[in-house]
Amino acid sequence: MKVMYPGFGGVLPNVLAGCGLLCQHSSESLSSRNSTGLSYKSQKMVQAMDMNLREILGYLLSEGELQLLVRGYDVVGDIAIIIIPQELEVKEQVIAAAILANNKKIKVVAKRAAHYGGEFRTLPIKIIGGEDRRETEVREFGIRLRLNVEKVYFSVRSGNERRRIASLVQPEENVLVLFSGIAPYPLMISRYSMAKRIVGIEKNPVAHDYALINLGLNKKLKNIVLIQGDVGDLLPRFRTEFDRILMVLPKSAGDFLEAALPLVKPGGCLHFYDMQNSDSFGEAVAKVRSVCESVKRPLLAADITACGHCAPRTYRICVDCLVG
Ligand SMILES: C[S@@+](CC[C@H](N)C(=O)[O-])C[C@H]1O[C@@H](n2cnc3c(N)ncnc32)[C@H](O)[C@@H]1O
Repeated sequence: MKVMYPGFGGVLPNVLAGCGLLCQHSSESLSSRNSTGLSYKSQKMVQAMDMNLREILGYLLSEGELQLLVRGYDVVGDIAIIIIPQELEVKEQVIAAAILANNKKIKVVAKRAAHYGGEFRTLPIKIIGGEDRRETEVREFGIRLRLNVEKVYFSVRSGNERRRIASLVQPEENVLVLFSGIAPYPLMISRYSMAKRIVGIEKNPVAHDYALINLGLNKKLKNIVLIQGDVGDLLPRFRTEFDRILMVLPKSAGDFLEAALPLVKPGGCLHFYDMQNSDSFGEAVAKVRSVCESVKRPLLAADITACGHCAPRTYRICVDCLVG
């Protein structure tokens, strides 16, 4: 989906490319969805259970029980995180044992104990098999990321989106990553662009500590500055100095638009993340446009990338905005 605004024609093509506006992007293309649901292909996620695991579980569960598990599980480093429906709780240890037997790289099996929630968007889990630990290390496009899967937000499903954003960054850009978590975006941008400086802001002190550890694990990446604090408190300290700002807080990023937009240089880009139903993606653009009008910064162009599937018909989207 592409939305264009007056004044768009006068903008240099390389600026548009830098905002992702010259071609249709979809880091996990909508067309890659299969007919049974809206699942996405990702190397880190076992979408449907592979045959071995299905075979093993075939001996342990009834066909009806097996059907309840077809959503698969995420693999975060060496930790598998699975959703166990209430009906199958009595068999969760059997399921965990089957996952461990089927994939020797997995050392811990955890189940989601609730939804992502709270200010820090963390995911409560319960360990149901393997080692009793929550810390692991992920490799994403060659970048090392250490984390505690319960104390910080991190999604292995967003790796392609992070790589997409990094590919848009032009040499010598100053980039601001709001809600930077354990620093996957700053590290990816640093690794795959020639940005001058990347500033990340994160409020969760545990996530910030891991971000610093991750900076140490990726020693060659030296143009990153990480700040712990509330974006709302810290934004007024900056000037109009960024070529690109990322707002990686789907659902609530809109609350910080008014403070963030004035920090984008004229002709710069803003990547605004949101969650929307498939028939209301335009509402995310409308949110940005309305704040652009109130802070008197024209929205020259906007393009939408669907970059995750959150619930039936609900997507995580990124609005790539060119700001005048
Ligand atoms: C959806 S997560 C994204 C994390 C990271 N960018 C990533 O892709 O893994 C949003 C992050 O924003 C942080 N956060 C929430 N409210 C915040 C605020 N007011 N100021 C700074 N960070 C905040 C959360 O702790 C969380 O780490």
